[in-house]
Parts: sequence; C-alpha cells; structure tokens
Amino acid sequence: MIKNEYLPYQAIIEEIKQETFDTKTFRVKFTAENLVKTFSYKQGQFMEVSLVGAGEAPISITSSPSRKGYLEFCIRAIGKVTKALHALQKGDTFYMRGPYGNQFPFEELKGKNIYFIAGGIGLAPVRSLMNLVFDHRKDFGHIKVLYGSKTPDELCFKDELESWKKIPDTEVWLTVDKPCEGWGCSIGVVTELWKETDINPKNAVAVVCGPPIMIKFATLKLMESGFYASDVIMTLERFMKCGLGKCGHCNIAEKFVCMDGPVFTYEQIKKFPVKEHVF
Ligand SMILES: Cc1cc2nc3c(=O)[nH]c(=O)nc-3n(C[C@H](O)[C@H](O)[C@H](O)COP(=O)(O)OP(=O)(O)OC[C@H]3O[C@@H](n4cnc5c(N)ncnc54)[C@H](O)[C@@H]3O)c2cc1C
Ligand code: FES
Repeated sequence: MIKNEYLPYQAIIEEIKQETFDTKTFRVKFTAENLVKTFSYKQGQFMEVSLVGAGEAPISITSSPSRKGYLEFCIRAIGKVTKALHALQKGDTFYMRGPYGNQFPFEELKGKNIYFIAGGIGLAPVRSLMNLVFDHRKDFGHIKVLYGSKTPDELCFKDELESWKKIPDTEVWLTVDKPCEGWGCSIGVVTELWKETDINPKNAVAVVCGPPIMIKFATLKLMESGFYASDVIMTLERFMKCGLGKCGHCNIAEKFVCMDGPVFTYEQIKKFPVKEHVF
C-alpha cells in the first residue's frame, strides 16, 4: 500500500504545563497503541499539528527521542491554530503528521564542549537535543546553557533550568531584558552573557535558536570568539504549508527549510545568496 504522506494521526493530551502567560507545553500520546510503540523521530524535527476547523501549524518536537512513549510540544498562542490548541484540556485530542525536517547532529557532538544558546521559545527545539545529550552525559564535554527572555516570567522550562544546573560539568546562565524584584541573574540580551562567562571555541560547538535578531547577533559573537562557521548550528523558522518539500512556501535560494532544514550550520547559511533574509 502507498503511504499517504499527508495522513494525520490522532493524539491525546496527557498533560498541559503553563510555561508563560502565552506558552504551554503539551505532553501527548498517539491514540493508536501501535504508533506509541513504533513511531520514532530525531532531535530537531517537527510535526504538522492540526485541529479540525482551525488548521495546521508546524511545531517542533521538544521532547527528547531518548524518552519514549510520548511527545512534547511547547506552543505559543499567536494565531488561529495555536490559540485553538491552547483552548484544549487534558484528555482532548488533536491531529499530527510527520516527523519532518532534518535533525541536530548527535554522534558528531560526542567528546565536544557544547554551548546551547537560546532566546524565548527558541529553547523548545533545542531542548530535544539538550535532554538527549543529558541522557548520555558522560559522552560529552563541558556544557554551557545561555538562555534569555524579555522578563523572568517569560523563561520557558523553569523547573528544568534549575535541574540542569545540578547536572555535573554543566552551567546554566540566564539573562532577561527587564528584571523583576529579586532577580539574581544577568540583565540584557543573550550576547551580554559574553561579559559574564568565558566562551571558548576550543573543541566546541554552539547550538543557537531564538528570534532571528538574536540568532544573528549570537552568531556574530560566536564568529568574533573564534568559532568555525561549521561549528555553529542553528534551527530556522519559515512560513510553511506542506512540511515535506512540495509547496515551495519555505524556500531560501534552492533549499527547502522543511526538508533541507530546519537545522543548518552557519557555514551552509553563509553560502545562501540571500543570506541577509535568513535572520
Ligand atoms: C519548523 C518550525 C518549527 C516551529 N516550532 C514551533 C514551536 O515549537 N512552538 C511554537 O509555538 N511555534 C513554532 N513554530 C511557529 C508556528 O508554526 C507559527 O507561529 C504558526 O504560524 C502558528 O500558527 P497559527 O495559526 O497559530 O498562527 P497564524 O494565524 O498563522 O499567525 C498569526 C500571526 O503570527 C505571524 N506568524 C506566523 N508564523 C510566524 C513565525 N514563524 N514567526 C513570526 N511570526 C509568525 C503571522 O504573520 C500572523 O501575524 C514553528 C515554525 C516552524 C516553521
Ligand atoms: S513547506 Fe512546502 S516545501 Fe517546505
């Protein structure tokens, strides 16, 4: 039988966590038991998530492939689909198809020091790789997490930020644009953290995700710090429709972000003839 690539599968919501005023994390499971057992995905991939009557949106899988039996999506309510998803309760269902896109490297990162650099909801796609790395902690070098948001309330995965600090050989550096009373970490954009902690390119890779402006300035800082463009890995967002390389909505030059990405190295992006539109 020919597989229909557009066929969505039903998922049931097992848990909902309010991350910030407009962002929730949904833990879901396929309603079909065989899919719970057989479905697999890679760190950095996304699903097309849909609700009848609302539409469909690409959403990164934020859970780690090393944690089986469920998928997690961290979703910010900004438009028709994401607001309709936010209205759902535990036990409700929605549909999803995928997984789509390429993946963050994993085997290639073994033995390296890793800088995870994220802004706002940009931590969601990177968290899939982070928890995969933490589940194989001994295979990697020193890890630094540099994470920023507008306010302390807008930091996602607050519990995990605390638990990651306790993982051996791991540092978590936080910064916000507007602090609240009692805020004990840095103030300013993520690149301000360069003043607080040593960013050393030796045997290191950096994984960057966040708003385009943050990706741009973090990448420039990494270049200034001596990183090779091939060691700076990022995940890009583009307007997408099909998610599987057919409609052309997501193209940059000759690349389809949904298929050739969303994960790219800066080395690859530098070669795009329209790289000024990427960030
Ligand atoms: C590969 C990929 C992974 C993604 N992962 C996540 C994720 O993990 N969590 C999450 O919350 N979102 C994620 N997004 C973004 C999400 O798919 C879009 O925000 C989507 O359009 C929301 O659908 P909607 O119907 O709710 O909003 P729409 O009704 O489509 O849009 C509402 C408003 O937001 C604007 N908008 C739409 N998409 C974007 C965008 N990407 N950037 C800036 N403005 C936009 C529109 O122009 C419009 O003004 C991802 C996008 C891609 C391509
Ligand atoms: S979203 Fe259709 S080609 Fe990428």
